[in-house]
Amino acid sequence: MGPEAGTLIVKKLRSEVPALFFNPTPPAATMLLLGLVLVLSGRAQLAPPEVTISLDEEPVVRWDPLLEAFEPDFLRRAAAQVIDTTVPKWLHEAIIPLALDLERYIPQPYAGEIRGLASHLGNPSDVILLNFAYEISAFCTSIVAQDNAGHVYHGRNLDYPHPVLRNLTMDVIFLKNGKEAYRGTSFAGYIGLWTGQSPNKFTISGDQRGTDRWWNWWKNVVSAFILRRSPVSWLVRETLEEAKDFQEAVMRLSKTPIITGVYYIVAGARAGEGVVITRNRADTADIWALEPVSGGWYRVETNFDHWLPPPARDHRRDAANKALNATGQDHISMETLYQVLSLYPVCNGRTVYTTIMSAATPEKYNTVVRPQGCPPI
Ligand SMILES: *[C@@H]1O[C@H](CO)[C@@H](O)[C@H](O)[C@H]1NC(C)=O
Ligand SMILES: *[C@@H]1O[C@H](CO)[C@@H](O)[C@H](O)[C@H]1NC(C)=O
Repeated sequence: MGPEAGTLIVKKLRSEVPALFFNPTPPAATMLLLGLVLVLSGRAQLAPPEVTISLDEEPVVRWDPLLEAFEPDFLRRAAAQVIDTTVPKWLHEAIIPLALDLERYIPQPYAGEIRGLASHLGNPSDVILLNFAYEISAFCTSIVAQDNAGHVYHGRNLDYPHPVLRNLTMDVIFLKNGKEAYRGTSFAGYIGLWTGQSPNKFTISGDQRGTDRWWNWWKNVVSAFILRRSPVSWLVRETLEEAKDFQEAVMRLSKTPIITGVYYIVAGARAGEGVVITRNRADTADIWALEPVSGGWYRVETNFDHWLPPPARDHRRDAANKALNATGQDHISMETLYQVLSLYPVCNGRTVYTTIMSAATPEKYNTVVRPQGCPPI
């Protein structure tokens, strides 16, 4: 175990990273594709199943409705597939003692929820591994934009090099006292959220920061269990559950220690409420807000610090900026934002789902699964 195993994983992942993450399209081709946005929006897409979870139920039983939306057998096979292809074998062994003493290492309600899921999916260590496998995975594009009338829109693509996730994608509605407290989009078996909405208050998406985590992610597991820092997707869920408005959401997402760096994109229900928070583990590196008065009517975040150029072969940021410029502030809407997020390479072969949301019109929250991703055209 230990360092040798770590080095092996580093080598393996390094060799895979470029192929996984970067598309080879040159800028000129990307520009040509701009005119084809409308063609793309006609591609087949699916609404994911909706699962309703009551927070009034005990953590250990509250995910039971999941089994009505997904075949338990399929869930077990899919979980095994994700774990086997993502998690190194030695970590399976390392996690067993933690799983045996779940309540000691993992806070509530997550320990109870993991235990409940494990009763359907296998055992607690599989569910823990599955949750951390996804925790490394959100390679994405998020956009917040404001129209001329002051309406704020928020959209995100979630990219992951694992096709089975398309069949695990779901919208989850969390009830409290019988009423919707918040909702989000997630994968069956995963208890955190990378995408979510607190109705009439704010919306949040998380994007992975940099590629570092692909070979260091097992350190995050240690950080979570030993240093008791929050996984980034748990903080999203807690913020959706507890923050009373946009300001408080931004504050919580900026200040709470987490297991790894990430970008949190937050949009509110009122004009001017939109930020990209660049997070370090312990603090915040930068907060990049909408500045509609001085031309900053949108912000695009992929997986790189916005003040630095992205890697030369990754054209997602540039393509999104150009498409938004071409759309214009007077034409931005949930529909045109969806079109921007459908444009190759913003949407690409690894895109699993797209969510469009606006806190002020929570009933319009909409997720589409991309059965084939978006191939280059
Ligand atoms: C996943 O869903 C697609 C439809 O979107 C279906 O054709 C395919 O068979 C499903 N795969 C699995 C493994 O269930
Ligand atoms: C988009 O428009 C802004 C403001 O006019 C400009 O600064 C920026 O360079 C444009 N971006 C692209 C990629 O065209």
